[in-house]
Amino acid sequence: MATPQQIQDLQNTFEKAQLASAHAVSSSPNQSFLQRQFESRQKETKQLKPFATEDIKVLLLENVNQTAIDIFTEQGYQVEFHKTSLGEEALIEKISKVHAIGIRSKTKLTEKVLAHAKNLVVIGCFCIGTNQVNLEYAASKGIAVFNSPFSNSRSVAELIICEVIALARQLGDRSIELHTGTWNKVSAKCWEVRGKTLGIVGYGHIGSQLSVLAESLGLNVLYYDVNMIMSLGNSKQVATLNELLSKSDFVTLHVPETAETKNILSTPQFAAMKDGAYVLNASRGTVIDIPALIAALKSGKLAGAALDVYPHEPAKNGAELFTNELNPWISELVSLRNVILTPHIGGSTEEAQSAIGVEVGTSLTKYINEGASTGSVNFPEVSLRALDLEKERNTVRVLYLHQNVPGVLKTVNNILGNYNIDKQFSDSQGDIAYLIADISGINNDEIQSLHDQLSDTPYKISIRLLY
Ligand SMILES: NC(=O)c1ccc[n+]([C@@H]2O[C@H](COP(=O)([O-])OP(=O)(O)OC[C@H]3O[C@@H](n4cnc5c(N)ncnc54)[C@H](O)[C@@H]3O)[C@@H](O)[C@H]2O)c1
Repeated sequence: MATPQQIQDLQNTFEKAQLASAHAVSSSPNQSFLQRQFESRQKETKQLKPFATEDIKVLLLENVNQTAIDIFTEQGYQVEFHKTSLGEEALIEKISKVHAIGIRSKTKLTEKVLAHAKNLVVIGCFCIGTNQVNLEYAASKGIAVFNSPFSNSRSVAELIICEVIALARQLGDRSIELHTGTWNKVSAKCWEVRGKTLGIVGYGHIGSQLSVLAESLGLNVLYYDVNMIMSLGNSKQVATLNELLSKSDFVTLHVPETAETKNILSTPQFAAMKDGAYVLNASRGTVIDIPALIAALKSGKLAGAALDVYPHEPAKNGAELFTNELNPWISELVSLRNVILTPHIGGSTEEAQSAIGVEVGTSLTKYINEGASTGSVNFPEVSLRALDLEKERNTVRVLYLHQNVPGVLKTVNNILGNYNIDKQFSDSQGDIAYLIADISGINNDEIQSLHDQLSDTPYKISIRLLY
């Protein structure tokens, strides 16, 4: 139950977020809220610092957002920032000296590069994907990896709302016509979206955000998901994909890329849709059978489509890249009317970038300062509550990462058992396991001895003591 003071603090947080954004075109209350919550928690709790490591050094590449730089500098970490990625040789040289590294999609953290990382404890991927990092090798070296899978959900949902209206009004065609000198004022087959039905396939982070936005425009919302999910607003879950297809004027896909979702919409599914319906996809390129979509559009069965993602996408920006060499049907697709094509920009907004900076920056800081691995993509998720500044002044936190083999905990607890173990939590994932323990009433000499004893144990991958 929140105290009156906590409620007041929360209200102040919201008021400040609103005041700060008074002159902004738009703001992201989520991010300022997150940031302030984190800051206020830091003030009340004991600030842990590393034992037997130098000051924390962070290397940030690929123009990681300023929000992350601010978080790290406020912590007193030494931050080295580069706008671009680094070549392998430069990366190997730099990575050998830092405790944390922040990257986006271009920096490849291969086994060869990571093998040179002597002090590295954590990697932040300031993006969604993590396949640029050898996750297994990182885990085997005791390096946790974090990313930000959901910071851009709202941005994707807003793009879809925009496209639903744009498709219903044939906005893309009217705009191209006028850009090329043609005045074509028509109302035939142009519709309001009010009262129409939006069918959402995949009611996760993006699908559910979209549902709320769509209802505020007067759309009826149906959704289909493999899991039973509680509906938001007046939206209704349907039992089968076919039911959703047969009842929706707009069908939008928000599923992950899996074997089950490959070509989830193909010829039979397009046939099951209403005549004159629209299809939208901002999830993954493989989930729609695009040649079948082209056929459905050409036949007039569908009245339009909006695609943001494709089975193969160019690795960089530039002209002459979206051609048949990339996907054999591209020339046919671009020639169709009322088809909106965007270059995978669903999540690409300033707000999403700064929210990613806050989310990953906060995850890294919590891992460095407190050992919390919640949200890590390659580690068991373990955390203990932050230490109380007054009551737990002489408490040391042990972060012990080890190979997941029988007998390790017995050895470790034999050592820890000589002290007062306040709390302890451990979990394993595959070949590695992670233990956090808070030991109270311990002086500096004993911390050194504890560190030495734990360092000598077999199957240890890495050890950090925070006090
Ligand atoms: N275009 C962009 O820029 C952009 C940005 C962010 C995310 N995405 C993509 O959007 C998609 C959705 O992202 P999210 O964050 O909402 O994911 P999420 O994991 O929160 O939600 C996905 C939902 O799909 C459901 N699902 C899984 N398999 C299904 C199936 N076979 N049939 C029906 N439902 C199924 C899941 O149960 C879940 O509820 C992902 O593919 C993601 O990669 C694209």
